[in-house]
Amino acid sequence: SLDKKVETLLKKMTLEEKVGQLNQYNGFWDVTGPTPKEGLAAKKYEDLKKGLVGSMLNVKGVKDVRALQKIAVEQTRLGIPLIFGFDVIHGYKTISPIPLAESASWDLNAIQKSAAMAADEASSVGINWTFAPMIDVSRDARWGRVMEGAGEDPYLGSRIAEARVKGFQGDLSSNKNILACAKHFAAYAFAESGRDYNTVDVGESTLQNVIFPPFKAALDAGVRTFMNSFNELDGVPATGNTYLQRQILKGDWKFQGFVVSDWGSIQEMKAHGYAKDDKQAAEIAINAGSDMDMESSAYIDYLAQLVQEGKVKETTVDDAVKRVLKVKFELGLFDNPYKYCDEARELATVGKPEFQTEVLDMAKKSIVLLKNNKELLPLKKSGQKIALIGALANDKTSPLGSWRIAADENTAVSVLEGLQAYKENQLTYVKGADVALGSPKFVFETKINTTDKSGFAEALAVAKNADVVVMVLGEYGLQSGEGRSRTDLGLPGVQQELLEAVYTVNKNIVLVLNNGRPLAIPWADEYIPAIVEAWQLGTQSGNAIAQVLYGDYNPSGKLPMTFPRNVAQVPIYYNHKNTGRPVMNEPESVFWSHYIDEKNTPLYPFGYGLSYSKFEYSDLKLSSPSFSKNGKIEVSVLVKNTGKVAGKEVVQLYIRDLIASVTRPVLELKGFEMIELQPNETKKVTFAISEKTIEFFTANSKWEAEAGDFKVFIGGSSAETLKGDFQFIK
Ligand code: IFM
Repeated sequence: SLDKKVETLLKKMTLEEKVGQLNQYNGFWDVTGPTPKEGLAAKKYEDLKKGLVGSMLNVKGVKDVRALQKIAVEQTRLGIPLIFGFDVIHGYKTISPIPLAESASWDLNAIQKSAAMAADEASSVGINWTFAPMIDVSRDARWGRVMEGAGEDPYLGSRIAEARVKGFQGDLSSNKNILACAKHFAAYAFAESGRDYNTVDVGESTLQNVIFPPFKAALDAGVRTFMNSFNELDGVPATGNTYLQRQILKGDWKFQGFVVSDWGSIQEMKAHGYAKDDKQAAEIAINAGSDMDMESSAYIDYLAQLVQEGKVKETTVDDAVKRVLKVKFELGLFDNPYKYCDEARELATVGKPEFQTEVLDMAKKSIVLLKNNKELLPLKKSGQKIALIGALANDKTSPLGSWRIAADENTAVSVLEGLQAYKENQLTYVKGADVALGSPKFVFETKINTTDKSGFAEALAVAKNADVVVMVLGEYGLQSGEGRSRTDLGLPGVQQELLEAVYTVNKNIVLVLNNGRPLAIPWADEYIPAIVEAWQLGTQSGNAIAQVLYGDYNPSGKLPMTFPRNVAQVPIYYNHKNTGRPVMNEPESVFWSHYIDEKNTPLYPFGYGLSYSKFEYSDLKLSSPSFSKNGKIEVSVLVKNTGKVAGKEVVQLYIRDLIASVTRPVLELKGFEMIELQPNETKKVTFAISEKTIEFFTANSKWEAEAGDFKVFIGGSSAETLKGDFQFIK
């Protein structure tokens, strides 16, 4: 058996070789984080030859992968193959929508397919491990990494985590699938004030009920690796956190795979004020359950010594090594270390045309129609003068978004190109204003918003003569992502001023948003008749947007994250608690949980999204007013398409547990189903409610269902639902 093979190999290994398996080096260059020490390349190369490296990251291309694998297999004493990790976050070379955008599709099959496509392309260049999916439940739009996750909801996040893990890992015996990595364990998204890497302090109920579920779902879907996170949690850095890694992950959840640290996070425990030097950091990390050291060099430098000194048990190292070796066996690397090294496949696979069809499909499904007054959309296909305005409309790199480290610049279809395919309208493009200064690449100039308004006059002149103005505004692709926290959720630079200026000459504006996070755009919501959330949609971005604007694709996306009215409302999320003083309509008072200068409600709620069809909900019915242990009830609703075109709708089921041993949210998503309806067609949608639906981590410190009264809600968003009541009797 696998375990036996692992044991046999382990017995042959010296302590140094064991530690080597726990050492992960970045390729000999600096790609996704700062290189902690100078002049490492030569040492890394020497270590590789001595069998002191278990994995490499950021090495890509069959030629390079093969060369390094050859050293590991042929030059080291035991010939243990390397695994090659890479951030395949939303595609490798062919780029899908950013994960937050894909999540807006609520289409689990499409999301799984998208991950499988990414795995196919990435594996063809020698990569066999992605550091994805990121499944941190994210409630704070200031945090740049919300673009990389599935948004704010634990239930939706869990379903998407499963889909992505299945998509990436599929059948690991094939060479088209790669290891997935559930990251970042845990609570990284809860960084205070949305500032990346900042302190996190959340209680156990939030951890268990909100943060952990997608990780548990990923684990149950078979994810082989976890990555811990940069943040501290209740005073203990996640990398050195025994509670997270030993008690929860490897204890309660019985995780059999291995945990990789985040980049340099072992040595960062010094800066946290938790370890005095790298040696102590290594001791803390391995004892806490971090199995592999990504780019800290702390294990390779000190772990053997720590064992000899009795500070770390050799059995602790053995356990970590066994986990790594097991995964290597599962990948089939001992049978064929060059399984992912096929030059012909690489040539035939990277960027292949079929992938374009897939990412276009995913991109269309990711678009969310936020507003469509006056039926400005879909656009008429002929006889129209269309003004296209905004630097992002003519950008072929920004739509690739953040975390697309293998994609080439200028490889996305721009909105301008997408709209040019519709030839019977007269299209005029003018930039109007830049988003940011310079041409931001994988660098940080994006911090600098432009103040240049010299292009306004030309934009206004073109807009004035148009029937419809399409304005593509938002964030540059690298204004979200790791290290890109923002304090302002408005349109960067002078884009808001440009929008308001254009509005003075032409009110028929379709605002297409490109962004990696929810934005606060209250002015646009009040005045602009049509707003389309188009995120950063990847390689086929412009084609997807054009097809939606022209009605060749009927949008069906729903927001996976709440859009605030004002940055100061953040963190704002639909599944909040009620508080002891929820806002009531009467009597007027200031002593409610509210602001005196802003509403509590969001601009656009979680689960919200329009369509060119219109959906009416009616007849919410429960099969019984109560159910008891091992029983269930059914709740159904009728949904009718009262619009003129066929369309898809995501029907959402929410519950509220009214009184519980730990306070419960005012709403919790518990199910959803996507249906397709022809005009005038009605469908009945039925959900089952069982103990599983209502269970949570209770005051007894376990997952269980508590008896009591519940409300059930079904609708097309978290804010618009039909309601019913039921009881659970124990
Ligand atoms: O996978 C990433 C992680 O999410 C952030 N730090 C760097 C890692 C590897 O690139």
